[in-house]
Amino acid sequence: MTVTEDRPTTVATPAPATVAARREAARRDTRAGYAATDTTITRLSDLSAGRSHEAYTDVPWDDTGHELTPSDPRLQLPDFEPVAQTAWYRGLSEEEKSVVGAWKMATMLRVGADFENMLQQGLLARSLSLPLGAPEFRYAHTEVSEESQHTMMFLEIVSRIGVPATGMPRYVVRVLEAVIRTVARRDPAAFFLGVLAGEDPIDRAQRRWLAAGVAHPTVERVLRIHVTEESRHVSYARVSVARDVPKLGPVRRQLLAAAAPLVFAFLARMMFVPPKAMATAVGVDHEVFTDAYRTPYGREFLADAVGKSRKLANEVGLMTPIGKRLWNACGIGGPETATRRGRRGPAAA
Ligand SMILES: [Fe+2]
Ligand SMILES: [Fe+2]
Repeated sequence: MTVTEDRPTTVATPAPATVAARREAARRDTRAGYAATDTTITRLSDLSAGRSHEAYTDVPWDDTGHELTPSDPRLQLPDFEPVAQTAWYRGLSEEEKSVVGAWKMATMLRVGADFENMLQQGLLARSLSLPLGAPEFRYAHTEVSEESQHTMMFLEIVSRIGVPATGMPRYVVRVLEAVIRTVARRDPAAFFLGVLAGEDPIDRAQRRWLAAGVAHPTVERVLRIHVTEESRHVSYARVSVARDVPKLGPVRRQLLAAAAPLVFAFLARMMFVPPKAMATAVGVDHEVFTDAYRTPYGREFLADAVGKSRKLANEVGLMTPIGKRLWNACGIGGPETATRRGRRGPAAA
């Protein structure tokens, strides 16, 4: 693709005098934005070539020491998990902590696998609408194939742990199945923001866990593969958001600015707060889990998990006054959502 002539010059030029000239200038900027995005997406495809991992050849599932059981102490929660900070968890025996850790791991991975299924459906629908030769077509399919391997890795861990963990609530699956393909085709700005809402929090948590040290070698291997490939997926979603949000009209931009914090807060809680089924299985009141994410520490954990996306929302012009208020009201605000009176988002306070 030849793009050089479309790139905006760095020399200061007077504003175009006529409406037609201004429209042409806007079109030129849009083409330049597309070209820059295409360059990044091509680079992501090149980076992926020959480096994607396979679930059943790149993870030594059956090696000695790689067994997964629900009472394996190597699955205990990392200290930074809000549930691990509760008096209830601290008071458990070592074996009970292992069971809670195994359930939490299995639950998070099942929700993650369901999300990846939805993401693949969206990407496949999107690729149908792309023109032949579009750089995005190649990367969308690269990501689909990687997500498919992630899904198998996640569900293999869940199967081997052997607890009946639940995934996304069924009503969420039904709603997403009904809308995801249409949104992916017709509203890429909303689709890729939704992708970030699913990918960013889990990526952040997995990176924190790897930095703290993952005791179980199978889990460690899968998380390491996942964060490596996920960093490219997140880059794809971020450059797409930066490309597509500026093209929105004022009404759609306001709507997206208001919807984004609701979606981020909902998905982050769905991924991290253990469901009732897990509370029942480990013999604790569900409120112990929900309250763990309502403490200042729990809110800070959630706000931190969406921090990179919140910053991006700010950079692309989605931090409208209503948007800011909603990020704060949802308990996932931060420095970008500080109000004029000097109040900061709850998590940043
Ligand atoms: Fe993934
Ligand atoms: Fe991904």
